[in-house]
Amino acid sequence: MSVDSNKERVFIFDTTLRDGEQSPGATMTLEEKLQVAESLDEMGVDIIEAGFPIASNGDFEAVVAVAKQVKNSTVAGLARAISADIDRAGEAVRHAQKGRIHTFVSTSPIHLAHQMKKTEDEVIEIIARTVSQARNLIDDVEWSAMDATRTPMEFLKRCVETAIKAGATTINLPDTVGYAVPEEHFAMFKEIIETVPGADKAIFSVHCHDDLGMAVANSLAGVAGGARQIECTINGLGERAGNAALEEVVMALRTRGDAMPYYTEIDSTQLSRVSRIVSAASNFPVQYNKAIVGKNAFAHESGIHQDGMLKNAETYEIMTPASVGIKETTLVMGKHSGRAAFKDKLKELGYDLGDNAFQEAFQRFKDLADRKKHVYDADIVALVDDEVGSV
Ligand code: KIV
Ligand code: ZN
Repeated sequence: MSVDSNKERVFIFDTTLRDGEQSPGATMTLEEKLQVAESLDEMGVDIIEAGFPIASNGDFEAVVAVAKQVKNSTVAGLARAISADIDRAGEAVRHAQKGRIHTFVSTSPIHLAHQMKKTEDEVIEIIARTVSQARNLIDDVEWSAMDATRTPMEFLKRCVETAIKAGATTINLPDTVGYAVPEEHFAMFKEIIETVPGADKAIFSVHCHDDLGMAVANSLAGVAGGARQIECTINGLGERAGNAALEEVVMALRTRGDAMPYYTEIDSTQLSRVSRIVSAASNFPVQYNKAIVGKNAFAHESGIHQDGMLKNAETYEIMTPASVGIKETTLVMGKHSGRAAFKDKLKELGYDLGDNAFQEAFQRFKDLADRKKHVYDADIVALVDDEVGSV
């Protein structure tokens, strides 16, 4: 894509194969993971999180296989803040041209008290030790503060400073439970990036879950606050309500570059194809009205909209279907369709009716559309042939 020098680059970290696969029921086979990884690599994803190597032998083998196959993207493996996890992740990603260990620990009071049973000082010691261990294995280390958005600011700053001092090159501040709102997400990144000593040495990353439907909005707010990596998944797969959808953040930055001066290196014309690959591999259907890649994302049924679309596509489309790899806009013939779209459809089907025949045919079409959910081309051909035959 052409790069506007006034815009700053945002790196895309895809976690479809890790957080996405954590969607209950979305488990993928090795072959499916390799197919997904290949399509992500070809589309220009910067970092592919291929799995959680300590989770099972299958996950380890999958990360190794992805690492060996991928040509351009960095391949990341996830590790808890546990020595054995970090070694296992290092062993898996060392097969990649560019490998990354992504290690994380919880930082919020609720996680510390109930899940980890650790004090703040103990967590600081764990961060220093585990990030150094990872850094001794590989140059590219990402550290995540799990549940960052429910962590008190002063403690979060101590954690981030410690991770950077220990050698983390990327700092991820996840909204693990999808709790943040955009304004506070923006403020959290801005404050940390502006005040933590050494923050300029790391790339900051957003990782947002969609429990309140704000994962994409929060991701973009994080970027406005200084983050330069977005963690996301194809079709928004992921734990519970999912993660920020890759196709949505990419197209938001591309379509609204006037309001948000950032760009990614994703070839957006591949989004629709990759969405279909992931949907088939994960066995998760894409909802019809899903932004960017849903079946209805470029379909218009209302007469007013169809009339506008026939005059100028920009009346009701803010991006072209081609820009996301969809062949063309569809004007769906239904009870809301108007004369303009019906005339256009007749032309496409090879009919040129006189005024009276057209009015009759249009009325019969409306009657049919009232009874039938979908009016197919064959229905229109049948009703026009009947009409022409009866004159
Ligand atoms: O949501 C989360 O906090 C995560 C971490 C492992 C990065 O997925
Ligand atoms: Zn997550």
